[in-house]
Amino acid sequence: MENLKIKRHNINEQFVDQLASKYGLPLHVYFPDKILQNVESFRAVSKELYPESQFNFAVKSNPSRGALRAASKFKLAADVSSEFELRAALGEGIPGENLVCNGCGKTDRYLRTGVDAGVLFAADSFEELDLLNSEAKFQSKSARVMIRFVGMPLKGFSSLDQSTAADWTKFGIDIKDAKKVFAFVKERSCLQFEGLSAHIGTQVCNPKGYKVLIDNMLSIVEIAKNQGLTVRAIDLGGGYPESYLSEEDWDGFTSNLIQQIDGKLSDEESVTWNKDPMGFAHLKSGETRKNPQWIGKAYRTENPGSEMFRYILTHKVKSGERLCDYLKKIGSPRIILEPGRAFFGTSGITITEVMGVKYINDNPVVFVDMGVNNHGTNLVAPDIFPFEVIPKKGNDSNVGVFIGGRLCYTGDMISKVKVKLNRLPVRGEKMIIHNTGSYCADHFASNHCGFARPAKVAIWNDGKVEVWRKGEEFSDVFGEIETSQSK
Ligand SMILES: Cc1ncc(COP(=O)(O)O)c(C=O)c1O
Repeated sequence: MENLKIKRHNINEQFVDQLASKYGLPLHVYFPDKILQNVESFRAVSKELYPESQFNFAVKSNPSRGALRAASKFKLAADVSSEFELRAALGEGIPGENLVCNGCGKTDRYLRTGVDAGVLFAADSFEELDLLNSEAKFQSKSARVMIRFVGMPLKGFSSLDQSTAADWTKFGIDIKDAKKVFAFVKERSCLQFEGLSAHIGTQVCNPKGYKVLIDNMLSIVEIAKNQGLTVRAIDLGGGYPESYLSEEDWDGFTSNLIQQIDGKLSDEESVTWNKDPMGFAHLKSGETRKNPQWIGKAYRTENPGSEMFRYILTHKVKSGERLCDYLKKIGSPRIILEPGRAFFGTSGITITEVMGVKYINDNPVVFVDMGVNNHGTNLVAPDIFPFEVIPKKGNDSNVGVFIGGRLCYTGDMISKVKVKLNRLPVRGEKMIIHNTGSYCADHFASNHCGFARPAKVAIWNDGKVEVWRKGEEFSDVFGEIETSQSK
């Protein structure tokens, strides 16, 4: 650890060079003061509207001891999805009672450790409820459970592979089985029923998604009540979005995309790689469209981060009351949120080096010294992040480029959307990708093509630097062969 005397607000050439020479590139950098700022904005909404709220940092968005230590320091609870995430959270001082254990296909060790620590399980199946009951009996304890529900009309609010509460999802229990599952819980004496949970997807830009979720959750509360169960907690999962683009850039991009679908753009004017229609895939070329609807994960929202939480709490429920007022009337159940992106996303940047520029179908493609294994969310759906060439120069002038990775895999594009760069870089210059604090470094991180996983470092407001993950070396990637003799 050392003091680099660098703050988040002056990301410049000197900052980038210092970090690059010490930790190598590519490099993931986090600014915990920004995480705290994001957390505080959620807390302010809670204080104003509904103090019975609990914020569980979704560890999967940045699974590292350092992120958990920061979360613990900021007095956050956590949402974990594996035995190791659970052990790390407990190890960093987050009490078991403040942990939610999510996941489908939980292992025996995960269940055992969780029951022992007194966590709250988001139970994913009837079978899991049975296993939890047996484990709790074995430990002479109770297992605290919420039921994770799916089967709600929530398709199209996130990318198809990230829609986790609609139909055709591997998670949870269908709401049409609500009565059955509540009866099942009541029959098992070592289960302590606490409530309901759901997670509808990530980067849910359209607040209607949360409206549908709340309306469904409140009707399940009624079903539980009619069966003599009290709902003490309603876990709304994560998904609170960020704006990756300004309104002007988003509007410009989507109207160009429509033109591209209509065949009005030349190859050189392409706005997405291989003319991917992204959120307009449902539209047919040549249709007249007055108000084309974007379906799936979007990149601009009117309700970023805690503003979506405000929307949720002030949303008018069936009775005409605001959700926050209605909840008070039904006994003030704890509202649990599990933000990952909204806490960590804007706190991080990734620094990489330019390997060169090449023209493909007349489009400039900037190649960088990293791959989708260092920027993984692009593998799920083409993402849009802000990029910047360092240093900025006086005569910079914007240029639209695609960004290519270095893996021997043609889908390895760091940006399949043509993004605006301050200028066309040359080999050896550095580039920054902004808002990469959640998922990017870890989702699909691998040693593909023999590349090492880069370091993760955090820079605190006072300039203190923490290494959250060491960059891998040759020996971490290729290691040694161990031999033993079978009998
Ligand atoms: C169960 C659960 N909760 C919370 C999250 C965090 O989502 P986000 O980072 O979009 O807030 C996820 C992400 O996949 C999740 O699966």
